[in-house]
Amino acid sequence: MKEKILDLFTRDALETARANNTYRSMRLMETPESSRVKIRMPDGTSQEQILLASNSYLDLANVDELKQAMAQAVLEWGTGSGGARLTTGNKTPHQKLEEFIAKFKCEESAITFNTGYMANVGTISALCSKNDFIFSDELNHASIIDGIRLSRAKCFVYKHNDVADLQRVIQEAEKSRAYEPTLPVPRKLIVTDAVFSMDGDLANLPELLRIAHESECLLMIDEAHATGVLGKTGRGLAEHYGCAHADVTVGTLSKAVAAEGGFVAGKQQLIDFLRNKARSFIFTTAMPPAVAAAACNNLRYIDAHPERVQNLRENVKFFCDALLHEGVNVVQSPSAIVPIVIGDEARALKISAALQDAGILIPAIRYPTVAKGQARLRASLMATHTHEQLQIAATTIAQIINDCL
Ligand SMILES: Cc1ncc(COP(=O)(O)O)c(C=O)c1O
Repeated sequence: MKEKILDLFTRDALETARANNTYRSMRLMETPESSRVKIRMPDGTSQEQILLASNSYLDLANVDELKQAMAQAVLEWGTGSGGARLTTGNKTPHQKLEEFIAKFKCEESAITFNTGYMANVGTISALCSKNDFIFSDELNHASIIDGIRLSRAKCFVYKHNDVADLQRVIQEAEKSRAYEPTLPVPRKLIVTDAVFSMDGDLANLPELLRIAHESECLLMIDEAHATGVLGKTGRGLAEHYGCAHADVTVGTLSKAVAAEGGFVAGKQQLIDFLRNKARSFIFTTAMPPAVAAAACNNLRYIDAHPERVQNLRENVKFFCDALLHEGVNVVQSPSAIVPIVIGDEARALKISAALQDAGILIPAIRYPTVAKGQARLRASLMATHTHEQLQIAATTIAQIINDCL
């Protein structure tokens, strides 16, 4: 009986996923995150791989001095925080981390969450409610979409990175408001990824700032894949363009920073508001103080080593050039993410599996993470890849794509 009820909830979804080549399982990695890793193969053996799939873009997870600093923080602060930030969980490392994020991002203040996902969900659902309007890029990350759903605001999706379409939907929203004159005046939020996680392209911040100003919208950007990557010193999208900042800058400490957590940086009033209203900040245990200390140490390391950011950029250029030279259709990526679009889900899986057999780890990204028929290899680069590794990868990718026609 019990199995039957569980079937009602789960069986169809699992069978459909298997039939559509979208069933998910996990790969086991037997070594720490770095540009070369060992993974468990389906036959139970271990195999070395060049890792071209990590979000640890600066390869900081395995730097000796940073590991030692985190170990020291565990010895000093123990394994857990013991409470929510607003009860007993707020320890010195949390405060130091927030102060340093604000400094690094050149903002008045910052607040941390346990993950970037929680930062987006908590921020959007705190800022907006039922009668508000949110303008969202069609390729925004799932955590932004979930935040919008939770807010219950009216969402207007604009075409990817298309500022003319953004202006169109803002006008459409204004018109819809005219039909509902009894409702309170809606607040308006534009929200976008800074670097799009599956395409690696960048939001047009200068234009978004202009439109937000003209149409009296608040502008929020998610710098999950921009922090530590964009701009000369890795400060993000505003540094890349040399322009003003968005009103709300969200980021994660789990990717280039190689720790765990999310943050929002901005005006003191925004941070005070989120501390009071963001439910994913309030109703959860604070991250372990040692994790906060690690995130802060790693961020300081990025600040002191801008050459890592430069190495990453140089590697991306080398890899894109090598792929183009081998006849693989890619564009020069402005970020650390290089998508190689394959299209068909089954073919993308086959190519990814063949690459793995050849010692190169690049996962196939499929629906629902990307649109149906837009399956791709999502290559992501690290500052520490060698040119030799990248050349081997480019040559092998070209060969396998040709073999798997
Ligand atoms: C654009 C974007 N925002 C937010 C997140 C969530 O960040 P986190 O992994 O820290 O939860 C991710 C990735 O996971 C992301 O790609």
